[in-house]
Amino acid sequence: MSYKGYAYINTIGCQMNVYDSEKLAGILNAYGFEMTDEMDKADIVVCNTCSIRHKAEEKAFSFLGRFAREKKKRPNLIIVMAGCVAQQEGKKAFSRVPHLDIVLGTQAFSRFGQHLSALESGKTQIVDIAESDVIFEAMPESTLAQREISDASCDGGNKISKFITIMQGCDNYCTYCVVPYVRGRERSRNHSAIVDEIKLLAQGGVREITLLGQNVNSYGVKEEGISFPQLLEKVSCVEGIARIRFATSHPKDLSMELIHVIRDNDKVCNHLHLPVQSGSNRILKKMNRGYTRETYIERIQALKSACPGIGLSTDIIVGFPDEGAEDFNDTMELLREVEFDSIFAFAYSDRSSAPAAKFTGQIAEKEKMIRLNQLLELQDVYTEKKNNALVGKPLEVLVEGESQKLHDGFLKTSDKMQQMTGRSASNKVVHFPSENSAIGDLVTIQIENAYPHSLWGYLLGVEKK
Ligand code: SAH
Ligand code: SF4
Ligand code: F3S
Repeated sequence: MSYKGYAYINTIGCQMNVYDSEKLAGILNAYGFEMTDEMDKADIVVCNTCSIRHKAEEKAFSFLGRFAREKKKRPNLIIVMAGCVAQQEGKKAFSRVPHLDIVLGTQAFSRFGQHLSALESGKTQIVDIAESDVIFEAMPESTLAQREISDASCDGGNKISKFITIMQGCDNYCTYCVVPYVRGRERSRNHSAIVDEIKLLAQGGVREITLLGQNVNSYGVKEEGISFPQLLEKVSCVEGIARIRFATSHPKDLSMELIHVIRDNDKVCNHLHLPVQSGSNRILKKMNRGYTRETYIERIQALKSACPGIGLSTDIIVGFPDEGAEDFNDTMELLREVEFDSIFAFAYSDRSSAPAAKFTGQIAEKEKMIRLNQLLELQDVYTEKKNNALVGKPLEVLVEGESQKLHDGFLKTSDKMQQMTGRSASNKVVHFPSENSAIGDLVTIQIENAYPHSLWGYLLGVEKK
């Protein structure tokens, strides 16, 4: 394929989009484009979009809108909207961004090359939001060979930790959520294809893998294949992989089998992200989450007793339609009861394709913000408490890169050397003076100090990769 110029990808949204952007970068490379981090240099600009909340959607439109003038100056500049907003909007996207060339839906990625060719032969305003039962497995040799290049523009160049999508879509239909409408029905990838892809990544130096799905607990159920805990066991046998993480677990499907794998398999990190969304049974029911506050807490207790020291995080939505003061208080109480290590909290955002948009009792934006701030303030207490509890203890950390900040306050003069950063299995960010450690090493750090969102310590030992 002849050289076509530079390609720039802007990725908005979840980890799945990061993974998908790598695939798009692979296709662009195979087509003749070279990836760049400099937007102004680009001959093709792709925005991989997210529609989970209004703000994410607006970010996509405003990013793409910026190219109107440039496109007039350089009509050959190709502008692509890909991903969840593309799927949601289809040809309506042109009314807001008339200078778009391709609208590439979430199930159309495998046809991206074809659309680029069609564009070259004179076709204009291409829209592909067709559904597909086939999961895009495209990891041709060329794509994998080009991962190195695409890394830089996709995930900040972290080469030792990679995301890998194991399933697509969602069948849970939580009433606030667009995912089932923009990502289609739940489908699981074949386990051998997943393991083969991870083997290739490991050969390229990857040490940590995060398996992605909207509800990993139902991996393989429809296909009657192996279960998610069995997949974890298979992945843990891949040589070179030191750690396995996964997201997201749905509380209604969290099994004891999975809890036992977290407990027994050394490579599966002692961390679980288990989105609760609300602490109120009334709201959970309206959200169609399929569990109660009580069953959620039971599962947390089972996790805590089976896996001591487990890092726990969650997602919470405040201001869901009809959420009263009492419901919100139930959520605050749940935070006190569980003591999460960290939370991701969001103000409810109305999505026109999701049923909750039509629910009565919509909460004023101002009130949502008040609740959001109260919740975050409360969580700060527990984040700090959890971090402080680790001071004086050794933690195993996978070294990810050089630390951006110098933690001078705690350094003896002789320690003013380059500092490194990494994460513990429980997902805590840890900074330390580098000494003889390198990216990809597993190191033991004696924790000396706790910050609100990270830890700091000294190196006790290094296990070279
Ligand atoms: N599949 C995952 C989450 C995917 S979306 C799960 O079920 O947990 C990530 C998070 O975005 C959700 O957990 C939820 O907290 C939040 N979210 C989804 N839709 C939202 C909306 N309409 N408004 C605000 N937050 C939302
Ligand atoms: Fe959305 Fe619910 Fe599916 Fe998660 S489980 S992606 S919140 S519908
Ligand atoms: Fe956003 Fe689509 Fe992910 S809506 S959160 S990018 S699945």
